[in-house]
Amino acid sequence: MIIFRKPYAWLTALSHVAIVTSRLVGIPIVPFTASDDGVYSVTSLKELVVDSKFAESRDETGETLIPPSLQEFAKTFAADLSSTLDLDVTVSNGNVATPDSIFLTLGDPSKYLDVTGAQTAEGYTLSVNSSGIVISGASPLGAWWGTRTVLQQAILSNSSLPYGEGDDAPGWRNRGMMLDAARHYYPPEFVIELCSYMSFFKQNIFQIHLSDNLYNNVALYSRERSLQLGAWFRLWSDSEDLAGLAKLQNESYTKDQYEEMQSACASRGVTLLPEIEAPGHSLAIIQWKPELALNSDISQLNISYPDTIPTMKTIWSTFLPWFQSKTVHIGADEYTGDPNEYNRFVNEMAGYIHQESGKAIRIWGTFPPKPEYDNVYQNVSVQHWEFFEDDPYHDYILNNYSVLNSDDTFYTVNKWSGSYPQVVNVARTFNGNPADGGIWQPFVFDTKVATNNPEKANALVLGAVTPLWNDYGPNATVFSEAYYAWKDGIPALGDKQWGGDLSASEFTPAFEALLPFIPGQNLDRAIPSASSTIFEYDSKAAVQTRHYSFQGVWTDTAVADQSGNGYDATTDCPLTEDATLSISPSCTFSTPLSSKGRDYTLSLKLKVDSADQDAVLISGGDSSLQLTPNLSLFASGNYYRLNMTVPTGTWVTLSIVGRGNHTFASVAETSLDEALPEVGSTTATAEEFLAVLGVNGERFVWAPIAVEAPIKQLGGAGAGWTGELAAMRLSSVA
Ligand SMILES: *[C@@H]1O[C@H](CO)[C@@H](O)[C@H](O)[C@H]1NC(C)=O
Ligand SMILES: *[C@@H]1O[C@H](CO)[C@@H](O)[C@H](O)[C@H]1NC(C)=O
Ligand SMILES: *[C@@H]1O[C@H](CO)[C@@H](O)[C@H](O)[C@H]1NC(C)=O
Ligand SMILES: *[C@@H]1O[C@H](CO)[C@@H](O)[C@H](O)[C@H]1NC(C)=O
Ligand SMILES: *[C@@H]1O[C@H](CO)[C@@H](O)[C@H](O)[C@H]1NC(C)=O
Ligand SMILES: *[C@@H]1O[C@H](CO)[C@@H](O)[C@H](O)[C@H]1NC(C)=O
Ligand SMILES: *[C@@H]1O[C@H](CO)[C@@H](O)[C@H](O)[C@H]1NC(C)=O
Ligand SMILES: *[C@@H]1O[C@H](CO)[C@@H](O)[C@H](O)[C@H]1NC(C)=O
Ligand SMILES: *[C@@H]1O[C@H](CO)[C@@H](O)[C@H](O)[C@H]1NC(C)=O
Ligand SMILES: *[C@@H]1O[C@H](CO)[C@@H](O)[C@H](O)[C@H]1NC(C)=O
Repeated sequence: MIIFRKPYAWLTALSHVAIVTSRLVGIPIVPFTASDDGVYSVTSLKELVVDSKFAESRDETGETLIPPSLQEFAKTFAADLSSTLDLDVTVSNGNVATPDSIFLTLGDPSKYLDVTGAQTAEGYTLSVNSSGIVISGASPLGAWWGTRTVLQQAILSNSSLPYGEGDDAPGWRNRGMMLDAARHYYPPEFVIELCSYMSFFKQNIFQIHLSDNLYNNVALYSRERSLQLGAWFRLWSDSEDLAGLAKLQNESYTKDQYEEMQSACASRGVTLLPEIEAPGHSLAIIQWKPELALNSDISQLNISYPDTIPTMKTIWSTFLPWFQSKTVHIGADEYTGDPNEYNRFVNEMAGYIHQESGKAIRIWGTFPPKPEYDNVYQNVSVQHWEFFEDDPYHDYILNNYSVLNSDDTFYTVNKWSGSYPQVVNVARTFNGNPADGGIWQPFVFDTKVATNNPEKANALVLGAVTPLWNDYGPNATVFSEAYYAWKDGIPALGDKQWGGDLSASEFTPAFEALLPFIPGQNLDRAIPSASSTIFEYDSKAAVQTRHYSFQGVWTDTAVADQSGNGYDATTDCPLTEDATLSISPSCTFSTPLSSKGRDYTLSLKLKVDSADQDAVLISGGDSSLQLTPNLSLFASGNYYRLNMTVPTGTWVTLSIVGRGNHTFASVAETSLDEALPEVGSTTATAEEFLAVLGVNGERFVWAPIAVEAPIKQLGGAGAGWTGELAAMRLSSVA
């Protein structure tokens, strides 16, 4: 067996810093006083002991209604120790720390305070001495964050934690991200992987924006065109009352899928916080019930139309029982109708939702309170995003509203935007405080004018959640591009949302060291490999085994992986006289892998003899390479087509290259005797796969698209082609 992952292999410049100071560099930073007389190596650990007194305790004070017990968190932690550090420890219950154990227990909860001086259940104490490690949480959730610290420190300091002790607690209660899953669908598994990624950096809120539409360009679109415009409601209910509201079941969440996402996220301390948007951005609801539209803009609800509020109540009454969060978000963003009607809508929905479910509601800051209005109730919390909508401090906080900081300082719009960047402005997390040019934290709404920000300790600042928007809809990006937009942003924001003060020079090396080891996800679609060649198959190396049984005689073929990684392929496709594999819909060629993310070169030597419309040359977990008849990648529900085709009846070298956020293909004629060209040596002209974004009905923008390599299977039912395969190679060099 090859050990691919070597978590302790880098130079530990970081750990020297850590040992002599009163903080451990981690993301977020960890307050810690080292006793300076030794280190404990986690490789000595034998056991994970859960304090029997607290094994079934749960934190009831957090945002989730399904908090895991200490025991449940411990099991997830043990699995992480195994997958991340290759440490297999037994989990047991006991009353005391045994030698060479990690003891998970609960301590005095009054010890842990947030920035306002209020008690937080998310604090913990980490103690390390020669007999092992103790994590004592203010609650099981606090202990869970302590387990993230242990994993991070083991990765960052060659498995050795300094002896000593530290109390750690988050400054703010809401720390996280918001994903626009309305204008772009994301599969449940992707959401779960993102929760795992966020949890590693101690974020605890995943806001999921579940309904929205493309920009309704009222100056340009007819009513008919608006009624055809992209608009999506992503929850799928079988209720008769809502028939037709969600359009595609394969791009909506069923109750089971929603439940799966929220319980998987909760198992890592992350609460899924749902948002159903109305009365603005409501075209999905209006396409279902056009009579609810406002005359001036068909994408917005006419609140005074008699059936509007009852319809919204029906929607909420259907989905409230699904949601395991104490707060739900009703949107209420960017409404252009009457402010008084808007305020009435919000308050009526707040009353209804509370009466039905006991839950609190949140809205986007839109119409700040004014003396002449019947204002939104002060117990409705406000998510601020832009100063042209509201002044969070003067309009809301000084009027006793609680405010969540989602200022567009950290906005991203996927792929392209006239206003916002495509990756989080990480630099601003280090210099975004206008008072001193120093670190940004959630109380900083305005990064330019200090007087627009409350005191750091202001209790009406709920924390911060950073959104990603999909303004240009489903075909602008593949799923993983949302992850790449946030890849550095989640850890950078995670530190500051917790209350950390990592500098840029501390952050970057720590993040690079942690990145390959984040448990519960493989968003990079990384594949362990001893060298840059991940697999290499040659049909001439195929070995056939004949099986005999009462069911008959059949032949299995293994094609050895010549890379040394052992990723042997298997096939039931017959070998030809030329020792190539005869591929067709009635047999398959399968690798043990599925998908490869950035960067890669996938090369195939093959011959296509006949192909149906939409033939699938090779498929994988995130994409498939097709002949439509143009060479095309199908990914995340969309086709990205080239102008080139694959000639039939002749041997070709077909290469797909994923280089950064670009994807290319080339096709070159070859002969059966010629070997696959070295990576990067092909002289064939490459064509780039492109997304064509429709911008508000006004113009198109061509942009790169970053598709994972499909590497799971050739042939099989639905393949739609016949031909031969002689060789196939995957390299991590692009
Ligand atoms: C990491 O620890 C191992 C054994 O504990 C040691 O052999 C190795 O030299 C250390 N590596 C670094 C970079 O300190
Ligand atoms: C280490 O800490 C544990 C738990 O507090 C304690 O039981 C144990 O005696 C300590 N070991 C040493 C050598 O100080
Ligand atoms: C809203 O609906 C009411 C009741 O049907 C109607 O009188 C009014 O004109 C509509 N207003 C707008 C702006 O669409
Ligand atoms: C919110 O405030 C309104 C107005 O003061 C009040 O009627 C309502 O009962 C409050 N709701 C909750 C859940 O406290
Ligand atoms: C805000 O709440 C405080 C404390 O409850 C109260 O004294 C103050 O009058 C309130 N201010 C407003 C504008 O409601
Ligand atoms: C693509 O990558 C380049 C170079 O890393 C980067 O500057 C650019 O912002 C990326 N584009 C998108 C849409 O992420
Ligand atoms: C969902 O189904 C529709 C209709 O068949 C299809 O066009 C779309 O690509 C599918 N979406 C995904 C994410 O596969
Ligand atoms: C295909 O050719 C057209 C016309 O030359 C060009 O506009 C388009 O960008 C090409 N498509 C790709 C994916 O290169
Ligand atoms: C397929 O490629 C041809 C050029 O070979 C191009 O004219 C055509 O537009 C392409 N079709 C699509 C759907 O991109
Ligand atoms: C992508 O969707 C937009 C609408 O947002 C549409 O105008 C455009 O043609 C689509 N692009 C492709 C390649 O289908």
